[in-house]
Amino acid sequence: MNGGSAPRNPGPAASPRGAPGRTLAVTGAGGFIAAAVQRLVGPGMRLRGLFRRDDERAGLWRARGHEVVIGSLSDEAALERLVAGADAVLHLAARRGKDDLTASRSVNVEASVLLARTAAAAGVGRLVYVSTISVYAETVAPDGLITEEVTPTGIERLNAYSRTKYEGECALRELSEAGEAPGLTVVRPTNVYGPGGRAWVLDWVARLRRLPVVPGGNAEIDVIHVDDVARGLLLAASAPSATGETLHFGHETVRLADFARGVAQAAGLRAYALPEPLDLLVRAALEYGHRLVRGSRRSTPLLGRRRFSHERARSVLAFTPQISLERGLRHLAEWFGGGCPDPRTTVLRAAS
Ligand SMILES: NC(=O)c1ccc[n+]([C@@H]2O[C@H](COP(=O)([O-])OP(=O)(O)OC[C@H]3O[C@@H](n4cnc5c(N)ncnc54)[C@H](OP(=O)(O)O)[C@@H]3O)[C@@H](O)[C@H]2O)c1
Repeated sequence: MNGGSAPRNPGPAASPRGAPGRTLAVTGAGGFIAAAVQRLVGPGMRLRGLFRRDDERAGLWRARGHEVVIGSLSDEAALERLVAGADAVLHLAARRGKDDLTASRSVNVEASVLLARTAAAAGVGRLVYVSTISVYAETVAPDGLITEEVTPTGIERLNAYSRTKYEGECALRELSEAGEAPGLTVVRPTNVYGPGGRAWVLDWVARLRRLPVVPGGNAEIDVIHVDDVARGLLLAASAPSATGETLHFGHETVRLADFARGVAQAAGLRAYALPEPLDLLVRAALEYGHRLVRGSRRSTPLLGRRRFSHERARSVLAFTPQISLERGLRHLAEWFGGGCPDPRTTVLRAAS
C-alpha cells in the first residue's frame, strides 16, 4: 500500500529508458503501449514479450533484438518461459471488452494472478500492473480532485473492464503482501493517445468520419501521450521506491470537444461540438442511457467534474510527462499525413 507522502529517492537503477543489464518481461507486447515501450527502451535493457500470435509485430521485436514468447496469459508454460530469469514484469495485457464479466475476469484477474504467482516462483523481483483510471468511474471526490489515497467506490456498478481491472489490482496486492507475488506497483494511466492508439485516436477518427459531431464534448478528460506513459513504466519497473505504490499516470485536463477536435484536425477531418445547453442534455442522455441499456457505467463519465492528481508519480518516481497535448497532436498530424507508418518504428520528433 502507499506509504507516507514524503518524496522518495528513485534509486540508482531508475531511468526513463529502463535499466541496462536487466531483463523486462512484457505481457500484451503486441499492443499500443507496449509498442512505445519497445521503441523507447534504452540499449542494454533486454525485453522479452508475450504475443498471442507469431505475426509481424513479434517479428519486429525479434528484429530489434528482443525475445519473443508466443502464448496466451492463461498458458502457464508460456508464462514460465516469459518470466524465466527476468528482473521485472510489465503487465500490459488486458481484455478490453466491457460487457462480459466472466470473460474479463478470466483474463484481467485469474490470468493476472497466474502470471504473478509464476513470476514469484521464478524469483522475479518486481511486477508493474497497468490498471486504469476508469476504476474511479463511480467515485466522487468531495473537492473533485482524486488522489491515490481515494479508494474507488461503486465497483459492482462499473463495466466489466473497469471492474475486473480493479479486482486484478486487489488480487495482486493481496498476493504481493502475502509474499506470493513480486513487489508490486499499480499504475493507473488516464486516457492514453498517440500514433496507433485505438480508444482515443483510431476509434474517434472512425466515429467522426461517420458523424463529425463530438457528443458530450464539454466533459473534461485527462490525457497523456503514449511515449510519456512508456517512459514512466520503464521508470516504475526499475525504481525500488515504486514497490508497494499505486500511481496515477496522467498529464493534461482538456475538454473532450477540444481533444476530439485536435484528433480530427490531425487526421484531416472537421469536428463540431454542441452548444452548452444541448451538450448537457446529450451528456445526460448518453450517461443514463448507457446505465439503462448496459446496466453498468461508462469508463469515462460525461457528467460531474473530476480531476486526477499526478503528484505521487512525481514524488515517488520523479516522473513528469514531457509531451504537451499541442506537441502530441502535431506529431499525430505528421503520422496521419505520412500515411500512418507503423507506430512501433516512428519516433516522436524533438520539440521544435
Ligand atoms: N490505451 C489506453 O488509453 C489505456 C488507458 C488506461 C489503461 N490502459 C491499460 O494499459 C494496458 C495496455 O493498453 P493498450 O492500449 O496497449 O491495449 P491494447 O493495444 O489493446 O493491447 C493489449 C494487448 O493485450 C493482449 N491480450 C489481450 N488478451 C490477452 C490474453 N488473454 N493473453 C495474452 N495477451 C492478451 C492483446 O493481444 P492481441 O494483440 O493479440 O489482441 C494486446 O496486444 C491495458 O492493461 C489497459 O487496461 C490503457
